[in-house]
Amino acid sequence: MRETAPVYYDEQSGSWHVFRYDDVQRALSEYATFSSHMGGDDASGTGQLFSLSLIATDPPRHRQLRSLVTQAFTPKAVDALAPRIAGLTDELLEGIADRGSADLIKALAYPLPVIVISELMGIPAQDRERFKRWSDVIVSQTRAGSASEDHTAANMEMTEYFLALIDERRSRPGQDLISTLLAAEIDGQKLTVPELLGFCALLLVAGNETTTNLIGNAVLCLAENPGTMERLLREPALIPQTIEEVLRFRSPVQSMYRLTVAETTLGDEVIPAGAPIVAWIGSANRDERQFQRPAEFDVDRGHNRHLAFGHGIHFCLGAPLARLEARIVLEALLARLPGLSLEQGVHLERMDSTIVYGVKALLVS
Ligand code: HEM
Repeated sequence: MRETAPVYYDEQSGSWHVFRYDDVQRALSEYATFSSHMGGDDASGTGQLFSLSLIATDPPRHRQLRSLVTQAFTPKAVDALAPRIAGLTDELLEGIADRGSADLIKALAYPLPVIVISELMGIPAQDRERFKRWSDVIVSQTRAGSASEDHTAANMEMTEYFLALIDERRSRPGQDLISTLLAAEIDGQKLTVPELLGFCALLLVAGNETTTNLIGNAVLCLAENPGTMERLLREPALIPQTIEEVLRFRSPVQSMYRLTVAETTLGDEVIPAGAPIVAWIGSANRDERQFQRPAEFDVDRGHNRHLAFGHGIHFCLGAPLARLEARIVLEALLARLPGLSLEQGVHLERMDSTIVYGVKALLVS
């Protein structure tokens, strides 16, 4: 598509699909033309609960909302979580090392990010399992605007859960992120309940499936490139740039949505106002105009300007946390399972989504 139809109008869905790096970067960052506010219903493709959260708002509201949570996610604040993340990783890996073989997604890549974000938000340990189901349903939509019954039900259950949790924190505030958001004020105004709900849903869903897939995709890339794995064993300092290459090569978030607020030209196409846009991050990250030999997994790329965490004002808030979790996991895996390999002959099944990209299970031994 990058060659033949870099900006493509899909008559069936009425959306414009954008494939080249420069165009994707523009669609993600030029918020005055490409709005993140997709309307109050489910048009964003990421769920009703998100419609009032910062990912679905434009300036000036976006700036105000984002300022409430940036402190919790600065690299410094996130680095303070490293010992806890390392401890959790060790605990989860214990089981794998003992068993000899295991599904790495189920045993490690899924639970780790859920536990970390749940602890930040003060969510009781016994409730974590429910998020797996809700976020699976929410991300499994395949196209913008396709809200299934399951999807609506998951949204409702999640809303009820968070309403109860917000009430509880209101009466008994703690040190967690939900209590911080409840106390926060913008120009003397507290966040509304729908805004609080949007924050909770966004943090849980945005941070979980994505980080799970980053970890899974990293293991997949290393299993396919044993030479790189051997290099990392000798030179663990290469792990951060390896993670950046995984983000480019197998981007956990493949596409993001926007809505044009004015007529605009993208590539050779004139796009009217009010048009839904699908910006294909996964394609941009393989654009030969931007990356040499884009189909090769190469940890020695110099300046890896991938768009896996987005671009501009909506750049992923959780990027430092996702990078830290992935680094700690890779360090631990290389130290404890240096001969790690995928079970032979097992079919790798992709997640049912056009938004997130990863495998459902990853059997390793
Ligand atoms: C935004 C990807 C992990 C929270 C984004 C965006 C992308 C992205 C592409 C931009 C959305 C847009 O432009 O509309 C990823 C990937 C992750 C990851 C690939 C893991 C590998 C996390 C984590 C958290 C998080 C761990 C939080 C705990 C957010 C939030 C936003 C966001 C709150 C909205 C920021 C804004 O609108 O200003 N993420 N994310 N993400 N991400 Fe992540």
